[in-house]
Amino acid sequence: MWALQKAYYRTYQFVMGLGMNFLPWLEPEIVEGAGSIKKLPSVIKWKDIKSVLIVTDQGLMSLHLLDSLFEALNSARIKYALYDQVQPNPTIENIEAALKIYNENKCEAIIAFGGGSPMDCAKVTSARVARPGRSVTRMRGLFRVILPALKMGSVFPPAIFAVPTTAGTGSETTIAAVVSNTQTHEKYPINDPVIRPRYAVLDPELTVGLPPHITATTGMDALTHAVESYIGKFYNNTATSVKAVLAVEMIFNNIEKAFKDGNDLEARGQMLLASYYAGYSFTRGAVGYVHGIGHNLGGMYGVPHGLAMSVIMPYVLEWYGEAAHKPLAELAEAAGVSKMGMNRAQKAKAFIDAVKGLNSRLNIPSKFDCIKDEDIPTIAERAMYECNPTYPVPKIMGKEDCIAVIKSLKA
Ligand SMILES: NC(=O)c1ccc[n+]([C@@H]2O[C@H](COP(=O)([O-])OP(=O)(O)OC[C@H]3O[C@@H](n4cnc5c(N)ncnc54)[C@H](O)[C@@H]3O)[C@@H](O)[C@H]2O)c1
Ligand SMILES: [Fe+2]
Repeated sequence: MWALQKAYYRTYQFVMGLGMNFLPWLEPEIVEGAGSIKKLPSVIKWKDIKSVLIVTDQGLMSLHLLDSLFEALNSARIKYALYDQVQPNPTIENIEAALKIYNENKCEAIIAFGGGSPMDCAKVTSARVARPGRSVTRMRGLFRVILPALKMGSVFPPAIFAVPTTAGTGSETTIAAVVSNTQTHEKYPINDPVIRPRYAVLDPELTVGLPPHITATTGMDALTHAVESYIGKFYNNTATSVKAVLAVEMIFNNIEKAFKDGNDLEARGQMLLASYYAGYSFTRGAVGYVHGIGHNLGGMYGVPHGLAMSVIMPYVLEWYGEAAHKPLAELAEAAGVSKMGMNRAQKAKAFIDAVKGLNSRLNIPSKFDCIKDEDIPTIAERAMYECNPTYPVPKIMGKEDCIAVIKSLKA
């Protein structure tokens, strides 16, 4: 029975992989470089947009990180409304509150300013603007925003101008937004090309104040995107694979520099670009069980996403075993950890060891102390629901395998 089930998953993934060639993969236009945030109002003005909603969080407001944006919008005479209450792991309530402000102020576009949480909140808000009759819960999964819209010949979501202030999620270029349901403690992705931002501002100056621990964990999230996308089957094309390899190389070369010296603008810029490349790669190549398990630890216990990724990644890569040796051996070259004379299995191991080494130098723990035994079957079931059959992973995991992996993550 399980063999039949796995055959169905692989057939589904193969067909999806073919279908990927027909999707509209519209990459955002990029505005980049130190201080580039100041150019954003002229881009907005050029699009003849007169009123925007800014979606951000309290942490960034208290750091005054948006001040130069507010000033530039005022001088360009662009009206703005503000929603600044996004929580880490954004909730449905956050989205509904942002939507209300958008409508009350008759906004025409959204500036998503912050890490993945504000960006994802903004993306789903834009979907709710376009589809007011469809709840966030019903947008869960793949194409649940665009398909009903096509049926009803309805409008497209408003443009999103994404301004990442962490170098991690790549949400500024992905078709994904991850939402938390505070009632059910579930955390799940909404995937749809229509919520992909139209513009991305990659300004490293906005990331210099990111504390070392968040620099480390969000950077490891970007690494997870590149790795999970690269080792997946069927969905990738040359561009996504090349960008994943580049991202791995750039992250190994820069994450520790940015961690040790937040003011290293060169390293910050490289991390921002690597995070964008990794996002570009996984938005088509997809992620895998690291994300499936991590989202559900986030939903159940509020574990920050990047931290979940960093801790879980080596366990899942080890679980894949031989099925992932070839792509991991290739990534060992990109990371600069493969040595002459090593065979494929040794290179794959060198890569996994290098990830563990990075984690330890970045002061990231190797286990979680929040996991409760009684929750493990539910976490595993939800992770399997997210991943199978959608993610084209090197080796398919069943619920019992997943339970064993989660148990090994427990401190
Ligand atoms: N849409 C996607 O494609 C995608 C991909 C991966 C993760 N995610 C989601 O993104 C969310 C996580 O995003 P994140 O890791 O970027 O963290 P985050 O947005 O939750 O931010 C974490 C903390 O860092 C602070 N912060 C952000 N930028 C800062 C800066 N420049 N200086 C100082 N503090 C700063 C924030 O105020 C916040 O307190 C999760 O919900 C995750 O599931 C989405
Ligand atoms: Fe992620």
